Amino acid sequence: MLPKAPITNIYDLKKIYARRVPKMFYDYCESGSWTEQTFRENVSDFDEIKLRQRIAVDMTGRTTATQMVGQDVAMPVALAPVGLTGMQHADGEILAARAAGKFGVPFTLSTMSICSIEDVAENTEKPFWFQVYTLKDDDFMKRLFARAQDAKCSALVITVDLQIMGQRHKDIKNGLSAPPKLTPKSIANMATKVGWGMEMLQTKRRFFGNIVGHAKGVTDPSSLSSWTAEAFDHSLDWERIKELRSWWDGPVILKGILDEDDARMAANVGADAIVVSNHGGRQLDGALSSIRMLPRIMDAVGDKIEVHLDSGIRSGQDVLKALALGAKGTMIGRAFVYGLGARGEAGVTDALNVIHKELDTTMALCGKRDVNDLGRDVLMLPKDFDHRWQMA
Ligand code: GLV
Repeated sequence: MLPKAPITNIYDLKKIYARRVPKMFYDYCESGSWTEQTFRENVSDFDEIKLRQRIAVDMTGRTTATQMVGQDVAMPVALAPVGLTGMQHADGEILAARAAGKFGVPFTLSTMSICSIEDVAENTEKPFWFQVYTLKDDDFMKRLFARAQDAKCSALVITVDLQIMGQRHKDIKNGLSAPPKLTPKSIANMATKVGWGMEMLQTKRRFFGNIVGHAKGVTDPSSLSSWTAEAFDHSLDWERIKELRSWWDGPVILKGILDEDDARMAANVGADAIVVSNHGGRQLDGALSSIRMLPRIMDAVGDKIEVHLDSGIRSGQDVLKALALGAKGTMIGRAFVYGLGARGEAGVTDALNVIHKELDTTMALCGKRDVNDLGRDVLMLPKDFDHRWQMA
């Protein structure tokens, strides 16, 4: 047998992932809403930012270690909450959390995970972050907070950009569900995904673990779209966000801020950090990319609250660009899912290693030794990078 080609970048993992995982779950991960313009520009806008090559600077003793919400991290890259992660690979949330824990970065468990909070806590060693949506059912919400607190989750991430779900055409066409519904089309596709299927048959974790058996009045708990339509709180406002904040004893991160005015509001509700995010281009198609909005948001609240960024990060160079524009941390979603779907825990470790190496080498070639010293001085930006589009 030929030796396996080494993994040198995230797209190597994506190729293996695409072959290994059923189309329904690949498409779920690899989609944006409607035309996918924002989904694409989240990635392509990073390419508009160039780096300054510097020489004759001592490169020894480099470090990527820093803190996110006061917690030590080996590099400022957390694993983002991703729904249905346990459908990308059997026991996916446990495996990804283990890889993150060993690497020294935070793992965030989604409410819409397959493995439950308790399951992840029992099968991992390091504390993880927990993500909540804002739901109508107060009893369910309170129990969810209590379950996360009992599991010793070390931060709460409140998603504030998904009261209703953006439409991703492929999920509708594929009839996305967990576990997958058996139709001639899904059976024909899954029959070609033997490794995935064998592992999935060996686990009992195939349902939305935080929901099934915990939420009342859910008509189809296997369908993400019907559950979100029924259960999510469409009336969410800043008062409710303040109330939710008061329920959690520990750091709170508000994820899904893409506007300066919202960032100013977020800085006043007692949150510890915000994530500049458009939900990976999965919500409002036509919105600007996260990286393009970051400078304006830094100007508005950079001195008031810790700012993280997600949406579009596929490399350590992207991480460096976000940090240089002022973010204190970043989150990766698809980049770790590619690794997980490709090779389980080892694939998530591959993804983290790839990103770390790119971040570290880029820092060195830009003449920096400490991730905490990154600033705009390492960048070359088009004159109008953050102001090409103005408020109308
Ligand atoms: C859920 O948060 C999704 O983007 O599918």
